[in-house]
Amino acid sequence: MNVQGISYEELAEEFGTPLYVYDAERLTGAVTGLRTALHPRLEVFYSLKANPNISVYATLRSGGARAEVSSLVELRTALTAGTPPEDVIFLGPGKSQRELTACLDAGVYAIVCESFDELDDIERLAAERGQRQRVLLRVNPALAISGSRLTMGGKPRQFGIDEEQVLAAGDLTARYRHADVAGVHVYLGTRILDAEVVGKNTRYILDLAERVAAATGIRLDAVDIGGGLGVPYFDGEEELAAADVADQLNPLLDKFAGAHPETRLIMESGRYLAGGAGTYVFRVRYVKESMGERFAVADGGTHHHMAAVGIGSFVKRNFPAELLTERPTGEVGPWNVTGPLCTPNDSVLKRAELPALRPGDLVGLRNSGAYGPTASPGLFLSHGYPAEVLVRAGRAHLVRERDQPDDLLRPQRLISPTDETAATAETAEGEQP
Ligand SMILES: Cc1ncc(COP(=O)(O)O)c(C=O)c1O
Repeated sequence: MNVQGISYEELAEEFGTPLYVYDAERLTGAVTGLRTALHPRLEVFYSLKANPNISVYATLRSGGARAEVSSLVELRTALTAGTPPEDVIFLGPGKSQRELTACLDAGVYAIVCESFDELDDIERLAAERGQRQRVLLRVNPALAISGSRLTMGGKPRQFGIDEEQVLAAGDLTARYRHADVAGVHVYLGTRILDAEVVGKNTRYILDLAERVAAATGIRLDAVDIGGGLGVPYFDGEEELAAADVADQLNPLLDKFAGAHPETRLIMESGRYLAGGAGTYVFRVRYVKESMGERFAVADGGTHHHMAAVGIGSFVKRNFPAELLTERPTGEVGPWNVTGPLCTPNDSVLKRAELPALRPGDLVGLRNSGAYGPTASPGLFLSHGYPAEVLVRAGRAHLVRERDQPDDLLRPQRLISPTDETAATAETAEGEQP
C-alpha cells in the first residue's frame, strides 16, 4: 500500500504513528475537478475548518481555491499562504471584536454577518476607522432540506438571520453606512451526497437572494450558495460526482449570472475538497480477546478522529479501513479496533471485516482528510496533535510536527499548593495568564 509510490510503512517509519497522510494530487484533483465541471462564474472557496493545515490549504489554493475562514488563525493561515484579501471571506456565529477588527485590518472581501447585533458591531467598528466593509447577510432560509446529514438552516438555529426577519428589515442601505451590506450567504447543511439536493438548495438560495435584494435595497455583489458536498464514509454511500452537481447547478447559475453580470457567485466546500485526500494511519499495539470478540488496541483513536469513532452520531458505523502493512494475510473476520484512551467510546472500528491483525500492523482509515484532529478532543489524556505529512510529486513533506509533552506542558503554570505569597507575587509580576 503506498501513496504516490511511497509505502505507508516507510512513512510510518520516518514520521512515526499515529499520522495523517495527505495526497497533494488528490487535493488539487478535487478542486480542479469541481472548478472544471461547474459554471465558470462560480468561485470555489475552501472552508479551512475542514482541515486548516497551511500546506493543505496552499495546495488547494494552487488548484484555484479561495478561502472561507472562521477564526484569527484561519485568517492568518489564508493570508500567510498568499491569498489576496479579496479572495477571503470570514464567517461564524460568534465573532469576537478582535476577529472583526482583524477582518477590517486585512480588508477581507466580506464578513458574513450572522445577526443584527453583529451588523451593528461591524457598523461601529468600521465607522471608528472611517472604513467601509462589505458584508454578506447570512440568511437562515424558511426551507427545511432533506438529504443533508447535518442541517444548518431551515430550522431554529444560531446561524444567520431568519429569512422572515431579513425580508421584514426594510431598507438596509439607509441604516448602515460603514457596514456595506451587499450580498447574501446561505449554508444549509453538510455531507450531502445527492446532486439533486444541491440543485434544489441552490435554486431556493438564488431566488431568495433576489427577494432579499428587492426587499432591503442591497446590491448583490456576491451570492454565496454554500455547498455541503459530501464524501462517502459508510457502506452504501456513493461518491458525489462533480459532473452530476454541474448538471444540476450550471443551468441555474447560468440564468442567474446572465441576470446579474456583476455578482460574484461563491460555493463553499471543505469536506469534499480535503476529505478524500487524507488517510489516518495508526499502528496496532496489542491484540486480545474479550468475551468472544477480538480487539486490536492501537495508538490512534478518538483524540484525532472523532468522526470515525462516531461521536455525535446516533449509530457507530465504520469508516473505510484497510490493513496497510504488506504481508500475506489469512481469512478476514470481525475486529474491534480501539485507541489508547480510557473510555469505551474510543472505538475506531467495530466488528470491521479485516484480516487477522497483529501487533505492529499499520491500519489506515480512508477519506479522513477533513474534520480530523482539529475537530476532535485532541487533548483528552494529553496525547496532543498527531504528525501530518503531505505527499507531493512523489516526496513526503512533514507539514505538522507531532505534539511533544513539552508542547502541552509549557503553557501551563505550576503554582505552589501552599505558599499563597509566592502565587500572589507571581501574579503581581504578570507571569500568570
Ligand atoms: C457555514 C459553513 N460553510 C462551510 C462549511 C463547510 O462544510 P463542508 O465541509 O461540508 O463543505 C460549514 C461546515 O459546517 C459551514 O458551517
